[in-house]
Amino acid sequence: MDLYEYQARDIFAAHSVPVLPGRTASTPEEAAAVASEIGTAVVVKAQVKTGGRGKAGGVKLAKTPEEAQEKAAAILGMDIKGHTVHQVLVTQASGIAEEYYFSFLLDRANRTFLAMASAEGGMEIEQLAVERPEALARIPVDPIAGVDKAKALEIVTAARIPAEVADDAADAIVALWDTFVGEDATLVEVNPLVRSSDGDIIALDGKVTLDENAGFRHPGHAALVDKRAEDPLEAKAKAKDLNYVKLD
Ligand SMILES: Nc1ncnc2c1ncn2[C@@H]1O[C@H](COP(=O)(O)OP(=O)(O)O)[C@@H](O)[C@H]1O
Ligand SMILES: [Mg+2]
Repeated sequence: MDLYEYQARDIFAAHSVPVLPGRTASTPEEAAAVASEIGTAVVVKAQVKTGGRGKAGGVKLAKTPEEAQEKAAAILGMDIKGHTVHQVLVTQASGIAEEYYFSFLLDRANRTFLAMASAEGGMEIEQLAVERPEALARIPVDPIAGVDKAKALEIVTAARIPAEVADDAADAIVALWDTFVGEDATLVEVNPLVRSSDGDIIALDGKVTLDENAGFRHPGHAALVDKRAEDPLEAKAKAKDLNYVKLD
């Protein structure tokens, strides 16, 4: 099950991954209220389960609550790659010095976990992997040994993340490993992981895929299902406790 960015953000926060304050809104008025609550410039972000929201016009800066209301009015109802926007995440705007890429995933082919990281984040990772594969570090992670600070620093170095932020980036990576294992995820991706203009390391975007076969261990995960977006056939199969795979 793929999560929305705001759900990933909440899970990150629960595992001590550094994120910015933010809350969802379903109406422009609500977005204005969240913006005044945050009290700084904000970014209004379409909540749809697809990437490239920024390029599609689904991520907009707003300096005032009035502006947040206008931007939310423009984004709500928008169609992004076939997904209708029903909610926006209103989150504090951050000055960005650098954008990195980070992910943990299940590497099925090699029967292990894999960390992928790059000092050149922000853009589509598939594009980076094709155009500059040498800039994308791939580090296997032993599932039993896991990721401690030393392993996280090894990943940071391989990704060529600058030394000044290596320590904070490694702490964030340890927290992301805690998220990955603790939630039984098959993917935890942060693109971009930023170095803010204040020098802080922050997860500015989040994608999390949960392993539904481990759902019995996580009673809280059921509440993360978006009934509106669920495939009716998948829902029917789940209700009957079937492990269902749709074929052509
Ligand atoms: N809170 C924020 N403050 C400042 N800039 C942001 C913030 N959130 C996102 N951005 C900018 O917008 C870009 C796209 O946002 P992101 O959340 O990665 O969406 P997507 O990956 O779907 O395009 C980021 O790479 C970043 O440059
Ligand atoms: Mg992104």
